[in-house]
Amino acid sequence: MTAATIPGLNGTGDTVPTKHAELLAWVQEVAELTQPDRVVFADGSDAEWERLTDQLVEAGTFTRLNDEKLPNSFLAQSDPSDVARVESRTYICSEREEDAGPTNNWMAPDEMRRTMTELYRGCMRGRTLFVVPFCMGPLGSDDPKLGVELTDSEYVVVSMRVMTRMGSAVLDLLGEDRPFVKALHSVGAPLEPGQDDVPWPCNDTKYITHFPEAREIWSFGSGYGGNALLGKKCYALRIASAMAHDEGWLAEHMLILKLISPEDKVYYIAAAFPSACGKTNLAMIHPTVPGWRAETLGDDIAWMRFGEDGRLYAVNPEFGFFGVAPGTNWSSNPTAMKTIEAGNTVFTNVAMTDDGGAWWEDLENQPEHLIDWLGQDWTPDSGRKAAHPNSRYCTPMSQCPTPAPEWDDPQGVPISAILFGGRRKNTVPLVNQSFSWQHGTFMGATMSSEQTAAAEGQVGSVRRDPMAMIPFLGYHVGDYLQHWINIGKNSDEAQLPKIFYVNWFRRGDDKRFLWPGFGENSRVLKWIVERIEGTADAQATPIGYVPTAADIDLDGLDADRNDVDESLAVNVDDWKAEIPMIEEWLQFVGDKLPSGIRDEFEALKERLDS
Ligand code: GDP
Ligand code: PGA
Ligand code: MN
Repeated sequence: MTAATIPGLNGTGDTVPTKHAELLAWVQEVAELTQPDRVVFADGSDAEWERLTDQLVEAGTFTRLNDEKLPNSFLAQSDPSDVARVESRTYICSEREEDAGPTNNWMAPDEMRRTMTELYRGCMRGRTLFVVPFCMGPLGSDDPKLGVELTDSEYVVVSMRVMTRMGSAVLDLLGEDRPFVKALHSVGAPLEPGQDDVPWPCNDTKYITHFPEAREIWSFGSGYGGNALLGKKCYALRIASAMAHDEGWLAEHMLILKLISPEDKVYYIAAAFPSACGKTNLAMIHPTVPGWRAETLGDDIAWMRFGEDGRLYAVNPEFGFFGVAPGTNWSSNPTAMKTIEAGNTVFTNVAMTDDGGAWWEDLENQPEHLIDWLGQDWTPDSGRKAAHPNSRYCTPMSQCPTPAPEWDDPQGVPISAILFGGRRKNTVPLVNQSFSWQHGTFMGATMSSEQTAAAEGQVGSVRRDPMAMIPFLGYHVGDYLQHWINIGKNSDEAQLPKIFYVNWFRRGDDKRFLWPGFGENSRVLKWIVERIEGTADAQATPIGYVPTAADIDLDGLDADRNDVDESLAVNVDDWKAEIPMIEEWLQFVGDKLPSGIRDEFEALKERLDS
């Protein structure tokens, strides 16, 4: 490869390993604006990982964990203010306000560019500008979805290496003129000469901005995963959802699971749950039903397009897992534990044990002493959590002990069932099958969940979260729902995935979970597969086909049978109380609400009244 230099750079004299003119012009433009000390093209090599993690340890951002327990793994403690996605600071800057829709923050693109340009001016002084070429999805795809993140954060570079296919191979794929998504990120914390850095630089002013028509992302002020690892939520959901709308495919907030029956029949299942509502756990499920096996393809994002056979094929655009640590343990999620234990993992905001291990709430063997996520001494009677509720592990997919071999196949896998689900302590039964694609789209469109710690806001308050996409839609929610209905018209109903609505989180009077969840969810998956095969029974209720306890395989289940009954109950009065909330939400969607969704709503009301 011949090298060009980026003119205007501060005396590094470095050469750059690409002849992509648009990329070079952009890097130069950003370097002139942000004034970094140097520009480095990330190559994704082991040597680079070692260099950067060493630097991060030296800077106090990372603590190297005990190599015998967690080889090549690190703990980052963030600034206490920078621990989750910031939805109030997330913008969809479409040309026209109406294209962003009522669920997104909007500002005119020119105005946003002017505002952020002033924030970016000089913001990388004293830092390195990294050029991080990345690819969402397998490198061998016919139409690889490429991106380049420019960032001044070493934490972001090493995390991007875990979460995406990145580095030299992607730069090669970019060639001299392949299109790519421009993703600009800065922590927004310039250093004056001689000024000491802090362990977690960030800025009180934050913007997570998307320009869907230009296919660009501008992020400022935060180092947290969903705000800063721009391949993930920003590209693979917000920008990709806009691409998918234009091109006739789906970019969804879904895990992808391979389920294998005792007869060795394979079923691929995709499931959309809001952040911190069980995607990673279901993606890694250990079925408790004898003879059933599960393998993982993805835990957060699915891109789905029609194959020539009229079926929907899903690909996971990511390369790693960015999972919620609290609640993860050897009994709830041994797959995640084994993936983490293989090392090469970046933890953020978990606690550290005295021998350099990682610990979080609900992990086995609670120690008597820890350094908590704030860096303070912690004992069991401290009266506060040792790990932040949204603390995360960032670990390579390739270390998963039970990967589906197809996980890196550009063709993707044909989806038999789509699950929607939220966190509801009442009303919503354990599982509920839709009457049709359009009814399933209605279920997804009106699904609701209690707010979790994965984003700022009041934990526990119920909000509507269509297809678990409300924080991740790159365009108008009404157009999005219409897109789902249109997708259903592309194929025969028989070829389309069957749609189910699940709720693992229903509670009894004393707040206990009615359903044990985790591996026991395989009993629900088995029923779902039997519904696909037409071999399981269900009751036609006003809200959909719901099983009774007798329809589900409960052999050997250690749970109160009354609790199971209660978890499956469809209480007409509860659903009637839900109607005004759904009505309010549909009003909020506004004029662009598809008539198909309105029709399903009217039909639901009629069924509840009859
Ligand atoms: P994600 O952010 O959607 O990937 O969610 P996770 O799979 O990381 O789970 C978020 C939280 O929900 C964790 O604390 C899990 O322990 C908990 N969780 C996951 N699945 C279940 C389940 O089936 N039942 C219950 N009660 N909790 C669950
Ligand atoms: P998740 O999102 O909770 O859906 O895994 C990660 C994030 O907060 O960006
Ligand atoms: Mn997850």
